Amino acid sequence: MAKLLILNGPNLNLLGQRESRIYGTKTLDDIIAECRQFSGTCGFELDHMQSNAEHELIERIHTAAADGTSGLAFNPAAFTHTSIALRDALLAVKLPFVEVHLSQPLAREQFRHISYFSDIAIGTVAGFGADGYVLGLQALINHLDE
Ligand code: DQA
Repeated sequence: MAKLLILNGPNLNLLGQRESRIYGTKTLDDIIAECRQFSGTCGFELDHMQSNAEHELIERIHTAAADGTSGLAFNPAAFTHTSIALRDALLAVKLPFVEVHLSQPLAREQFRHISYFSDIAIGTVAGFGADGYVLGLQALINHLDE
């Protein structure tokens, strides 16, 4: 069975309790359970990793290139706006990925308007709350099926 990976960056382990007006009330476990169910119905196995550490996310991206992962849905969280290292990791492994954000960064503070990922992603899903993950997986699967 083909494999997909959801990667989540810093502070997303706190979903459900973190700024719920912006990020909603679902926990990360709720979201990943929905994503697993969706991926399964589409015939894909789904792996997930959340980390607050940039180097762990980089290493998981490297591993994905070797473990048969077909593509990623990635919410880099605050690293969206800072991490050239994560961008370089994705460019190095050449795996297709969809950038996902629960909020719409472009409607927020100026410092969130820069993304180091949007121009190298298949596309970006932002502003749809937790639904963005399933929407992102759907877009990734469509891309892989093309
Ligand atoms: C976020 C948006 C980022 O600006 C922020 O730092 C996050 C979450 C989102 O999902 O809306 O941690 O990626």
